[in-house]
Amino acid sequence: PLARSLSMTSLNGLPQWEDEDLPVEDLLLFEVSWEVTNKVGGIYTVIQTKAKITADEWGENYFLIGPYFEHNVKTQVEACEPPNPAVKKAMDTIKGQGCQVFFGRWLIEGTPYVLLFDIGSAAWNLDRWKGEFWDASNIGIPFHDREANDAVILGSLTAWFLKEFDDKPNIIAHFHEWQAGVGLILTRSQKLPVATIFTTHATLLGRYLCAASIDFYNNLDQFDIDKEAGERQIYHRYCMERASVHCAHVFTTVSQITAIEAEHMLKRNPDVVTPNGLNIKKFSAMHEFQNLHSMYKARIQEFIRGHFYGHLDFSLEKTLFFFIAGRYEFSNKGADMFLEALSRLNFLLRVHKSDVTVVVFFIMPAKTNNFNVETLKGQAVRKQLCHLVKQALYCLYRGEIPDLNKILDRDDITIMKRAIFSTQRHCLPPVTTHNMIDDGNDPILNTIRRIGLFNNRTDRVKVILHPEFLSSTSPLLPLDYEEFVRGCHLGVFPSYYEPWGYTPAECTVMGIPSVTTNLSGFGCFMQEHVADPAAYGIYIVDRRFRSPDESCNQLTQILYGFCQQSRRQRIIQRNRTERLSDLLDWRYLGRYYMHARHLALSRAFPDKFEMEPSAPPKTEGFRYPRPSSVPPSPSVSQHSSPHHSEEEDEDEDERYDEDEEAERDRQNIKSPFSLGVLPQGKKQQHGEYRN
Ligand code: UDP
Ligand code: G6P
Ligand code: GLC
Repeated sequence: PLARSLSMTSLNGLPQWEDEDLPVEDLLLFEVSWEVTNKVGGIYTVIQTKAKITADEWGENYFLIGPYFEHNVKTQVEACEPPNPAVKKAMDTIKGQGCQVFFGRWLIEGTPYVLLFDIGSAAWNLDRWKGEFWDASNIGIPFHDREANDAVILGSLTAWFLKEFDDKPNIIAHFHEWQAGVGLILTRSQKLPVATIFTTHATLLGRYLCAASIDFYNNLDQFDIDKEAGERQIYHRYCMERASVHCAHVFTTVSQITAIEAEHMLKRNPDVVTPNGLNIKKFSAMHEFQNLHSMYKARIQEFIRGHFYGHLDFSLEKTLFFFIAGRYEFSNKGADMFLEALSRLNFLLRVHKSDVTVVVFFIMPAKTNNFNVETLKGQAVRKQLCHLVKQALYCLYRGEIPDLNKILDRDDITIMKRAIFSTQRHCLPPVTTHNMIDDGNDPILNTIRRIGLFNNRTDRVKVILHPEFLSSTSPLLPLDYEEFVRGCHLGVFPSYYEPWGYTPAECTVMGIPSVTTNLSGFGCFMQEHVADPAAYGIYIVDRRFRSPDESCNQLTQILYGFCQQSRRQRIIQRNRTERLSDLLDWRYLGRYYMHARHLALSRAFPDKFEMEPSAPPKTEGFRYPRPSSVPPSPSVSQHSSPHHSEEEDEDEDERYDEDEEAERDRQNIKSPFSLGVLPQGKKQQHGEYRN
């Protein structure tokens, strides 16, 4: 009776949503990852943002499995009893044998159930489990590799947990990345009745080889992969990854470019490409995201006033904020090329006597021991002056002409004099906000030293390294990452190795233009689905078919062109950028995960779940046309009036409501939703990006 025909009829190259419904009431879905409730990088973003649509589909039958960390649980999870008796029984059995398991609801959108294994409490089994893993796979794990040992513990606990379910109900277990893969390998070697999926978000070898500045993409088929893994002392990890890939009923990667990489590095073609989405909720007021930009830009400007005290000889109104953010992988994330391009941009802006200043933030976590004194002092000086000005303004507000002698007593005047003296500075504004532990070997700082971008008065490009992820509780720059991004003008992510790259995708849905590359999954995805990405504020640097120097020049030109835009052009461009959000919505992209699950069921339980033999859903078939009336890039778009100045732009701001073009395009351009690929009931209004 469970047998279902999962017909895969396609519409515009996209599978129809309705055809994919599964009888989820008879199934349990477990999704396993080291980054469940545990933020390391983009995998956390995948799991956390996807939870809503998965929970909507699977309800009480959806569970996430990950490691238990006290801090994460305290701040993100609400404990509860497992409502499902089979889950409770399996969990109690494990607990009964002395391993701690935590169950609760993850307090994110969709509030999915999470089951977290306390790795430390189960570590006494490590030797035995390593032995069992060896028997199953012939993969030996060295004692000194903590991450790999933790992966064995998480994997053994996961497989043990899945084993505790008797034949019913049917289970799908979806494992992300090699750290979760041991669970999959053991599930298969023990022949548990579980449909398995493995998603890789990168390959170990790809990441390592690219970081070693090897010409990776031109030599994909040339590498002796066992040897390369051995030389880098990651042979066991690479074996764990490769075995997970080959044991899975269904193997998926997050992008086409990683699919090709996987074919060579892991020797299996993915069954499905599952691009990464985001949770998009539209604002009811269309221009709300523009207002947010203004609001958070003002907060960044405040920080800049403090950071550059004594050197604030540039106009903040004519200052643009660029940033790069992510895990600190210097060359893989393209920080090397970005710095080089900034040095060239600085030169161009200087020789062309531009009045634009660019402040560039590097948000990349490194080892530090706290904020540096000079940075803190800057903010303190700003706050003190701000306080004094507020006092004077308060008097004015009461209708009094501020008579210094009246409103300020002697102490106030002393404080004021000292505040003014303290704005004199004998050093340059610092290039880093924190004391770096390994200052002398830090690649970003060393490059800054080499190219001489020291925040001199004459520099049009200023740099600030913030070697910590952002937080609204920071005493220095009290903004969440999302707020910070909204306040900036351009995200720059010229990655060399980037299977997907959430950072430019997040910029897009917040209506902030960004630079990406044709070596990133996101960049290739946009190239495929948007006719003229640059017109929409998605600049794609060619790092594939050009030399590094040519790519760097292309990047410099993009940055320089961006600096030449008027405010009005930037506003128009932000509107266009935001219009691409639908393309990145999980409610559209979630279908590839659904397809992977159906495929896994049909392979694991062929007599219960049939599937029409047809190609997996393709990501092609949908393409945003160029915005109607504009030349390819807004930087060269014409003003309606021949004598148009930046001042006029500023006047226009307040009047500026919605670009006519936007309205025209809104009617002409079909979004993935208007293709009928989402049931109308689920169609969204206008939206906001939710993390
Ligand atoms: N991020 C963050 N705080 C920051 C900077 C970055 O939370 O201050 C997040 C960002 O939102 C993104 C993730 O880090 O979701 C990085 O993911 P990406 O896929 O770009 O790169 P990965 O680190 O996985 O290679
Ligand atoms: C948004 C606001 C405008 C503001 C503009 C600044 O569009 O709605 O009021 O003038 O941002 O744009 P800019 O690119 O100069 O930061
Ligand atoms: C990996 C990749 C990144 C991707 C993320 C989520 O960490 O480096 O490009 O966006 O996983 O899939």
